Amino acid sequence: MAENDLESTAKELVAPGKGIWATDASTPTMDKRLTAAGITPTLETRTMFREVLISTPGLGEFISGVILYDETIRQRTSEGIGFVDLLQKQGIVPGIKVDKGTVELEGSPEEKVTEGLEGLSERLAEYKQMGAKFAKWRAVISIGDGIPSQRCIEPNAQRLASYAKFCQEQGLVPIVEPEVLMDGEHTIEKSEEITTAVLLNVFAQLKEQKVALEGIILKPNMVLSGYKCQTQAGLEEVAQMTIRTLLKTVPKEVPGIVFLSGGQDVILATARLNEICKTKDLPWKVSFSFERGLEGPAMEIWKNEVENGKAVQSALYKRAKLNSLASQGQYLEEMENEL
Ligand code: 13P
Repeated sequence: MAENDLESTAKELVAPGKGIWATDASTPTMDKRLTAAGITPTLETRTMFREVLISTPGLGEFISGVILYDETIRQRTSEGIGFVDLLQKQGIVPGIKVDKGTVELEGSPEEKVTEGLEGLSERLAEYKQMGAKFAKWRAVISIGDGIPSQRCIEPNAQRLASYAKFCQEQGLVPIVEPEVLMDGEHTIEKSEEITTAVLLNVFAQLKEQKVALEGIILKPNMVLSGYKCQTQAGLEEVAQMTIRTLLKTVPKEVPGIVFLSGGQDVILATARLNEICKTKDLPWKVSFSFERGLEGPAMEIWKNEVENGKAVQSALYKRAKLNSLASQGQYLEEMENEL
């Protein structure tokens, strides 16, 4: 694919008022969620939940792209319509998670490196044939006593860049996701320091491996107080420190930045996104690429009322709409009760 095709897909993914829905939980993660909901995890139950969500009417008003998982991209609804076709009919761009999860970093069991480069080009070519136009790879960095180490940051950045290069060669837009986890007692200042170091390493590697920045999307964490930190930074401080971190690290050629929700309370994730997106004149488009921040409430409803597909869809639609408003800095907390 020519470079400007990559650019136009990247731009489409961050079109005004739209964000990306990540529904790419791996089979083991999905099975854990189903088990917690008291539902026997099978191919059938996994497909049923995803079919209900992907069939939500009107999703294309707020969602530009959906990140699928290897199992899901191959699936069909009970009426025989491919999930990919269903998304395309709504004007939604299909994407695919292509990393193969994390393993322990040798010699540092609390740190992880992401795997999946082996055979990646072939897998990308197959996904492209199936209709995927973009991909996702997630690196995970933990903050703790003496971690992260440079030994962890560096290979994760290198692999993200190699993945991005493979994607562009195969004509898919890479979503580059270096997630600094917010679990722990650390302060927001520590989050800023580590997120800055990680992003600087990632962009150094992208440059080194000659990835075209105009044809990627960055998916970072927001800069927050650790979830167990005694002092929790307010909305304005989160927005200010997140923007400051990104301005220091993300080149202006990058067309879009979409945040992950990272296990935050769903309403807080929307309110923080809104505060960030009120900032004027940023060099890149800013929006969301949430999984739990979009699907969380729908899963809660599904837990109790598996038969009530409409209520499950309404819950997803509501979060998609509110996050779309937040991506334009137009969200108000009272809207939570209006929809
Ligand atoms: P969360 O929004 O639940 O953090 O998920 C986003 C994602 O795609 C993680 O890889």
